[in-house]
Amino acid sequence: MLMGGPSAEREVSLSTGRECARALRGEGYEVVEVDAGPDLVVHLQDIKPDVVFNALHGRWGEDGCVQGLLEWLRLPYTHSGVLASALAMDKERSKGAYRSVGLPVVDSVLAPKAEVMARHVMAPPYVVKPNNEGSSVGIYIVHEAANGPPQLSDEMPAQVMVETYAPGRELTATVMGDRALCVTDILTDGWYDYEAKYATGGSRHVVPAEIPAEITQLCLDYALRAHAVLGCRGLSRTDFRWDETRGAEGLVLLETNTQPGMTPTSLTPEQAQHAGLTFGQFCAWLVEDASC
Ligand code: DAL
Ligand code: MG
Repeated sequence: MLMGGPSAEREVSLSTGRECARALRGEGYEVVEVDAGPDLVVHLQDIKPDVVFNALHGRWGEDGCVQGLLEWLRLPYTHSGVLASALAMDKERSKGAYRSVGLPVVDSVLAPKAEVMARHVMAPPYVVKPNNEGSSVGIYIVHEAANGPPQLSDEMPAQVMVETYAPGRELTATVMGDRALCVTDILTDGWYDYEAKYATGGSRHVVPAEIPAEITQLCLDYALRAHAVLGCRGLSRTDFRWDETRGAEGLVLLETNTQPGMTPTSLTPEQAQHAGLTFGQFCAWLVEDASC
């Protein structure tokens, strides 16, 4: 079980890894938990696993880096391969892939951090985020011009993504193999930020979403097409915003996560459960689907 690692989503990954390890042991698998540090190759050569369960999130674990290492070591691993992982993690480039197959995305630009802090690079409301992080780490929302440009933290990269703010409900759909499981409506008091994602009771999930059948079908179809155009393997979760005042026109795809969270508050295990799978069966499916 590869977990932890050095990314900003380290704590989320430790939680995902613990949950998946426990579930797999319950299914009769022998699981060794490995915190992905600089000595990872030595550990893997010692352990000689039949399959590497990748429970990492964020940079180095979700962006093709560790996938390349596992290919090099000829170790079968779960979730997506090198190219799909790298492409999905790069929010700007993945939008190019979505546009190429007609999937609706929000306008955005990549801009130098200094410029974003000096002036409004687009008309508010807009969102500033790192191009390659997950879990809403480092997200700034600029609601009004009068607020002035955002003062970004030192941790933000030199280039950031500035994206038109998409209003509306937060929806998500998991793809497992060749089927999209269902749509969840995520209800929060404010922004679905890190706290709302991982604190118990931080958000309420309606599974399946109580939205028009047409919107559900569109989400499922878009999630499958996003999974396919990125070349994902096994599991992915695609996030949407839906402005219900605009009907089907109001649905936009935000991003696809190739390593969806599997923590006790995460969305994907709930969707698998709705599809009739226990968490143990779901994790076992990932192991059996692994390849390199
Ligand atoms: N980035 C987090 C783990 C998620 O998408 O679930
Ligand atoms: Mg994400």
